[in-house]
Amino acid sequence: MDLKNKVILAPMAGATDAPMRRLCFSLGADMAVTEMVSAKAICYKDEKTGVLSSITGGEGDVELQLFGHEPDVVAYAAEAAVTGNISGARFDHPPCAIDINMGCPVRKIVTSGDGCALMRDPGLAADIVRKTASVLSEYGVPLTVKIRSGWDKNSINAPYFAAKMAEAGAAAVTVHARTRDQMYAPSADLSVIRAVKDELKDFPVIGNGDIKSAEDAVRMMDVTGCDSVMIGREALGNVWIFSEIRALLRGEKYASPDVKTRIDTALSLIRDIISEKGEFVGVREARGRAAHFIKGMRGAPQVRDRINHAETYEDIETILYEGLCD
Ligand SMILES: Cc1cc2nc3c(=O)[nH]c(=O)nc-3n(C[C@H](O)[C@H](O)[C@H](O)COP(=O)(O)O)c2cc1C
Repeated sequence: MDLKNKVILAPMAGATDAPMRRLCFSLGADMAVTEMVSAKAICYKDEKTGVLSSITGGEGDVELQLFGHEPDVVAYAAEAAVTGNISGARFDHPPCAIDINMGCPVRKIVTSGDGCALMRDPGLAADIVRKTASVLSEYGVPLTVKIRSGWDKNSINAPYFAAKMAEAGAAAVTVHARTRDQMYAPSADLSVIRAVKDELKDFPVIGNGDIKSAEDAVRMMDVTGCDSVMIGREALGNVWIFSEIRALLRGEKYASPDVKTRIDTALSLIRDIISEKGEFVGVREARGRAAHFIKGMRGAPQVRDRINHAETYEDIETILYEGLCD
């Protein structure tokens, strides 16, 4: 994979659906990852999982992220994804790669042996990668792996673990530089990404964790030597971060958007969500999405409360313009 200086939208369950990815691509993201999808649910032909896997028009390079811990099941789901055979899914573009989630810290996931639990079993994780990469190689589709620093502070094994994944056939690794125990705080430890890059040399490493500005992204690249960066939470309300990072990397000027542009952009995302998911679901999802876009604006808390009671797209539009654009 060409992963030099790429700026990537992180996988985020409940957030990085096709409308969000489309918006981020339009603002400069080079690649995006779907929400995590259960490999087992794909095998069971669960239609709702199919909808989560969909990659629809106007997107760029999208990786489909799977979670699971059984090599045959993950390999089956990966093949179904690249051949467009997932029940309930629509693929206007095939995924550019498959990613395996080995970093999710959520209790329900790790107690099933999925997500970050795999970092405690490098042998099984390598089997999953070997089997899946071998199936995908028949289609010329690469496999990547997303990991954390390790399980806890006493078992930081990202450099060793990443090397095992590379040896088993992964094409790149993303490192979220926190342990499973840390969940989302304290701040990411860039020295772990540096150690993975030192271990893997020319193998592509994507750095992730706490990038909140273009300067943070460039600093992560400088300090760790990572090839590309992945942005998660900051992008939820600041979708312009992709343009901002690109501008800094190219030495170009960047002007941050004004309040009206922020609101117009949030509304265009909400319209896209409603057109994909229908008004009932779309409006309910829009409440949380809009809150990210207006964070920090004068009047935002009152507007957020009112939006939580909105029933239609028109309600949301009126509340946002009335409450924030005076
Ligand atoms: C709401 C939310 C959902 C997430 N869902 C996923 C997921 O489905 N798969 C995954 O690998 N990571 C997931 N993550 C982790 C992010 O991809 C990313 O690694 C993490 O947020 C750190 O990056 P950041 O500091 O830029 O947010 C999620 C994070 C958040 C906040």
